[in-house]
Amino acid sequence: MVIFDRHRRLRSTASIRDLVRENHLIRDDLIMPVFVDATIKDKEEIASMPGIYRFSLAAVLDEIKEIVDLGIQSVIIFGIPDHKDDVGSGAWEENGVVQQAIRKIKAAYPDLIVIADTCLCEYTSTGHCGIVKDHRVLNDESLVYNTKTAVSQVKAGADMVAPSNAMDGFVAAIREGLDKAGFQNTPIMSYSVKYASSFYGPFRDAADGAPQFGDRKGYQMDPANRLEALREVASDEKEGADFVMVKPAMAFLDIMRDVRNHTNLPLVAYNVSGEYAMIKAASQNGWIDEDQIVKETLVGMKRAGADLIITYFAKDAAQRINKQRW
Ligand code: PBG
Repeated sequence: MVIFDRHRRLRSTASIRDLVRENHLIRDDLIMPVFVDATIKDKEEIASMPGIYRFSLAAVLDEIKEIVDLGIQSVIIFGIPDHKDDVGSGAWEENGVVQQAIRKIKAAYPDLIVIADTCLCEYTSTGHCGIVKDHRVLNDESLVYNTKTAVSQVKAGADMVAPSNAMDGFVAAIREGLDKAGFQNTPIMSYSVKYASSFYGPFRDAADGAPQFGDRKGYQMDPANRLEALREVASDEKEGADFVMVKPAMAFLDIMRDVRNHTNLPLVAYNVSGEYAMIKAASQNGWIDEDQIVKETLVGMKRAGADLIITYFAKDAAQRINKQRW
């Protein structure tokens, strides 16, 4: 019998496997989420996300120092304000919790890339990502406040904004707002392909941003759809996005690959809160090998086409990468 293909030749030793490995995770791929909370004194662990904390303005620099010391070069900031109202003013006022955090972080770490999540859901009394009238989330009116938010974040020193509110035209509106304010060089990382997903559950606990009525299915995408993702990416490209994103990641890696094959922009994967919670829970039960599962998960996102990964595992992964190649 002749065996034509001996695939195992290239798997025979660790060094040969290193030689032919197609995808790698490097530290520069990682973006660590950071929650700043105006209502607490120090830091509080998020119950459904063990190891992830909400930080007060006084405590946030300790976390940033750890992140920077691990060699991570980007963070994305989320805020929990001390007041909520109809127009989400905590999201866009000059002394909002995120604006204060950004000023503090950039003053201490000018080289760290600080990305601001641009949305209203943590700041509106309805918990929706936009302005609500008669139980409907209005599109164009919401763009006004979303743009105000982006501009105020960049004024505070954000290097980039990441709009996540899923309104139509949000990239164009923010681009115009930033340009008018003199920020032509500030990139937009758009949450282009954002599904209405139950994988955001733990985040909504963390950021206190669950909708008070209804759900987000009228503005976020249906998980059953694939072509719609490509239409979203095409709109964002036309409107001037500098990065596109697919979110969540694990159950949507086919979409990641589709988007990779259709865009030349840098592609971001968001490894969301529910994905983190599931791995942590199984690991705490001793059911899985967390390190290996995280490595496989993150490199799977790279293989699917992601250039960058927003992940609550960023610190853990950076620690491993510093010791050995992942
Ligand atoms: C804000 C926003 C959400 C997430 C990121 N930005 C929540 C949502 O859309 O409901 C989720 C992130 C995660 O689950 O880790 N709109």
